[in-house]
Amino acid sequence: MTPYDSLKLELGDRSYNILIGSGLIKNAGDLISPALKQPRVVVVTDENVAPLYLPMLKQSLSAAGISHTDIVLQAGEQTKSLSHLEHVIDALLDQKIERGTSLIALGGGVIGDLTGFAAAIVLRGIDFIQIPTTLLSQVDSSVGGKTGINTRFGKNLIGSFYQPRMVLADITSLDSLPSREVLAGYAEVVKYGLINDESFFDWLENNGHAICDGDLVLRQSAVLASCRAKAAIVSKDEREGDVRALLNLGHTFGHALEAETGYGETLLHGEAVAVGVTLAHDLSAATGLCPLKDAHRVKEHYRAVGLPAAPADIIGVDWQAEAIISHMNRDKKVKDGRLTFVLTRGIGKAFVTSDVALEDVSTTLAAAISD
Ligand code: GLY
Repeated sequence: MTPYDSLKLELGDRSYNILIGSGLIKNAGDLISPALKQPRVVVVTDENVAPLYLPMLKQSLSAAGISHTDIVLQAGEQTKSLSHLEHVIDALLDQKIERGTSLIALGGGVIGDLTGFAAAIVLRGIDFIQIPTTLLSQVDSSVGGKTGINTRFGKNLIGSFYQPRMVLADITSLDSLPSREVLAGYAEVVKYGLINDESFFDWLENNGHAICDGDLVLRQSAVLASCRAKAAIVSKDEREGDVRALLNLGHTFGHALEAETGYGETLLHGEAVAVGVTLAHDLSAATGLCPLKDAHRVKEHYRAVGLPAAPADIIGVDWQAEAIISHMNRDKKVKDGRLTFVLTRGIGKAFVTSDVALEDVSTTLAAAISD
């Protein structure tokens, strides 16, 4: 196995290691053994990921003397539902899992969120390990313990904060990702530079193309920097009191755009984040908080790697500022009737605020719709 990076997310007795490198799935059995209460796991994955990585994972578990079974679910966002959760829980109980049995989430954010939530509630909580196989899940959803499912009222409305025991981010698994999915994950990588690390954003401006095109060394560095940034925030504020809300940069706009397009192929979550992050910078510039040139840098970088950076970049949608704002008002980030935004004073200087005039949001949206 090539050398891998390791960092610790510090949360007292719930601290855990995040390993980042090539070939980790092939060696997962040995790597996770020390974190298991008993040498028994159930792997939860989906129909897209199973043919690619499940045989390799099973082989390494067997070689390490870990007994294993698996549950293979349909791929796609619709799997993050109560009915699929019930299916997973039934399968686990049918297999007579014990409190020392661990779950392994092998896949992207849908599998990670659903499996983590199942682990949080079955037998009042068993351990789980994240093996994220998409860039988005490696740099965001697998780290920090947000687990849950969607309901017809909206995304992630049922769930819990429940931390994994370990995260294995195998960079080689990104080779099988369609480039559109890589880019969607990259939108979140950029977000970490914009929150509080201008030098990381500078580095991404120079290396973003190579990261998106598949350079393994640069990808490993980008995932490591992203996980380090996220771990630092989560260890300060696990349950999103204040600091963790910075991770929602671009998400007030982004979730509204996703809601308008029906959470489907028209606009992937990461693409919505790229547009939302750019809009947050546009709004900050329009209200005199942030230099206009910084907002331009963000827009240019997203567009340079091939991501959308304005609603106008997403073709085939009849965008209306009022419709986007009405989605925002239904978001779970509304507090005491006021919208919460992450705005910025410049690259790497993001902050959380509820002090935003709706006319400014509307003007910014209208300008970006015709951009
Ligand atoms: N994805 C944002 C968070 O984990 O808080």
